[in-house]
Amino acid sequence: MLSDRFGRSIDYLRLSVTDRCDLRCTYCLPKGFKGFEEPKHWLTFDEIERLLGAFARLGTSRVRLTGGEPLLRRNLPELAARIARLPGMRDLSLSTNATRLNRHAGELKAAGVSRINVSLDSLDRECMEKITGRDSLPQILEGIMSGKAAGFDPIKINMVAMRGINENEIDAMVAFCIEHGFILRLIEAMPMGATGRDAAFLELGPIQTRLQSKFGLQPQAAELGGGPARYLATADGRASVGFITPMSQHFCATCNRVRLAVDGTLYLCLGQEEKFEFRPLLRGGASDAELEQAIRTAIELKPQKHEFREQPDKVIRFMAQTGG
Ligand code: GTP
Ligand code: 5AD
Ligand code: SF4
Repeated sequence: MLSDRFGRSIDYLRLSVTDRCDLRCTYCLPKGFKGFEEPKHWLTFDEIERLLGAFARLGTSRVRLTGGEPLLRRNLPELAARIARLPGMRDLSLSTNATRLNRHAGELKAAGVSRINVSLDSLDRECMEKITGRDSLPQILEGIMSGKAAGFDPIKINMVAMRGINENEIDAMVAFCIEHGFILRLIEAMPMGATGRDAAFLELGPIQTRLQSKFGLQPQAAELGGGPARYLATADGRASVGFITPMSQHFCATCNRVRLAVDGTLYLCLGQEEKFEFRPLLRGGASDAELEQAIRTAIELKPQKHEFREQPDKVIRFMAQTGG
């Protein structure tokens, strides 16, 4: 088992399989962004499988495929199947914008992806166009429904709640998710890259209190994934709403994860610069034992917490570069 300097067990790896995306969500990847990684620097499937094999031997049992938009990486279901087969892997999940999910949902399910989380910030077509940079809503809804038809359960909907942008649409999203049996998670925007800074930040505490009484929600003890969300549920337990509050009430003390970017850089924290480069080792003939030792060394670098509030200009990477 991997454990860091602060006694946290690290058993969850978020794997970004591409830094590219077909959308340009304002808080994630700005229009005109040019700094994408060159294909020759992308870890190959063989390299990913080998490195994740070493992580798995050290106790990593959860992997989430992310991006950018992970479904832009060619043959993703093949990679998913290779990861799902690693010894000790008990939870393989995917975070996607769903624009291409209708083409791949069945294959991903067959490959061993058990859960999907979809980014959806609004049910209003124009609002989605403003946030994502193009008229994306119909395609995304089609993708989500094909995920449901393929049998993904649960499907979680991630909504970044932004002041003055989509805050009026939260209640409609709660109702939509209850109707379709999706788990909604409301997320506070983090100041990643040069996007928006704190402008869009909306504190979720008061919204939680309001939704609790409007929809009769109660705190829920059950664990609904490997992530940082805290959940409320309806009395019959059939519908849940999660709150991800990195800004107003961070969850770093129970952090269990690290992030591997497409170029083989392991980022130890979403909100800090500490990192470890695995590509030189993978391409330089390192043995399995050396890889495992390097992972232990990297985990030692994991910082205690992010400092988005104290130093909002500190991290200059975009979310799509780190692995959303
Ligand atoms: P499960 O709970 O296992 O379903 O997954 P998850 O919530 O960890 O995954 P998802 O990709 O859906 O993450 C949702 C959002 O939570 C991310 O986009 C971030 O906004 C936020 N988040 C996830 N992990 C971290 C983290 O380590 N630190 C911070 N600050 N935010 C995170
Ligand atoms: N703050 C909070 N969440 C973000 N995401 C992307 N950028 C940010 C940000 N700056 C979220 C998306 C998606 C997930 C993968 O990352 O909403 O659900
Ligand atoms: Fe793409 Fe997702 Fe970022 Fe939006 S949030 S730009 S869909 S990676």
